[in-house]
Amino acid sequence: MKFKKWSVAVLVCAALFCAAAVQAQEKLEIFSWWAGDEGPALEALIARYNALYPKVQVINATVTGGSGVNARAVLKTRMLGGDPPDSFQVHAGQELLGSWVVANRMENLASLYQSMGWTTRFPAGLVSLLSARGGIWSVPVNIHRSNVMWYLPSKLKEWGVTPPKTWAEFLKTCDVLMSKGVEAPLSLGEAWTVQHLWESVALGVLGPDNWAALWAGKLKFTDPKVVAVWDMFGKVLAYTNADASGLSWQQATDRLVSGDSAFNIMGDWAAGYMSTTLRLVPGEDFGWAAAPSTGGVFMMLSDSFGLPLGIKNRTAALNWLKLLGSKEGQDIFNPLKGSIPARVDADMTKYNAYSQSAAKDWKANRIAGSLVHGFVAPERFMNEFGTIIDFYLSGRNSKATASAAQAIADQVRLGY
Ligand code: GAL
Repeated sequence: MKFKKWSVAVLVCAALFCAAAVQAQEKLEIFSWWAGDEGPALEALIARYNALYPKVQVINATVTGGSGVNARAVLKTRMLGGDPPDSFQVHAGQELLGSWVVANRMENLASLYQSMGWTTRFPAGLVSLLSARGGIWSVPVNIHRSNVMWYLPSKLKEWGVTPPKTWAEFLKTCDVLMSKGVEAPLSLGEAWTVQHLWESVALGVLGPDNWAALWAGKLKFTDPKVVAVWDMFGKVLAYTNADASGLSWQQATDRLVSGDSAFNIMGDWAAGYMSTTLRLVPGEDFGWAAAPSTGGVFMMLSDSFGLPLGIKNRTAALNWLKLLGSKEGQDIFNPLKGSIPARVDADMTKYNAYSQSAAKDWKANRIAGSLVHGFVAPERFMNEFGTIIDFYLSGRNSKATASAAQAIADQVRLGY
């Protein structure tokens, strides 16, 4: 009996000790929308973090939904509710600066940049997108390109067409494709991918100078040049699939891969999906070109991670930022993601044919900023922009849509 009492006591003590040890274990919660088949690049980076810091338990908190449509809403609730994740994905530019930085929710990383020598390791233009109020507020892990048109060379050959270089040519090519039985030559997905298509049409119709002027508040949405964007957008939409609203961006890419559509306009995470997940060979199985009328322009966006104030695991989070800003970290992440490294000294031999060509364009092209992926306008504008697109889709009235867009632009301070 005595023995039994002792052993129970020992077991209880052991259990309490284990529980205390688990509680004391350092954690790191990383928050992003890179879930499911968007996950391999992040998972590879986390695997490296685990190897470097085996005592830290990493929680890979993801909220599914391309371009962060759902994640951003969850993040907002958590940040405002005083429960910030230790580090979270946020686009460089207005999405970061116009929200969490102005709200004083982020820690200034300028001294981290100094100690890591990052001010010269990242392009100056990118660092300025992460800077405001005398601070630097996040660490970029990549550069993505928004204005890419994807296709399968074998299918285009079969249909006897070549990738169109302008939007006018695009419309003609689609007519040819339809006459050959391709019902929806341009593959499209759910709502945010429609906005994504819009930004490529707008960049093509306006050109990079007017595009920049629009977001600097110097060109009005009601200007005939901008009204013309909606006219072209309407024409382009006529060639898209009827089931678009029910498709994720990956499913829209699948339509291309299966040969149901001839083209898809999507950021180069589609290259990551096709090469990493679907195991297709860039340049052989799939091809790419700048979205029509945007040749020579690289519409960029950058995923970055910051350090919210008031987090539970600051040291673990700082080590996470150090890894993702390192050359090693960037060269683990980007070859799988389809993006190019943000650092200027990455080892490009580790990258496939698509990324090599994107890296070349990144150096040679004019740079424009993405709207949908947080660069040029604050989140408030982006949230309303979905309504503007719906308004256009319901009435197909370019002028009325332009006025509605200008009304929102007047409410939100545009310019960066
Ligand atoms: C973008 C993000 C990319 C990719 C894409 C699709 O906003 O920057 O890294 O995740 O959404 O979800």
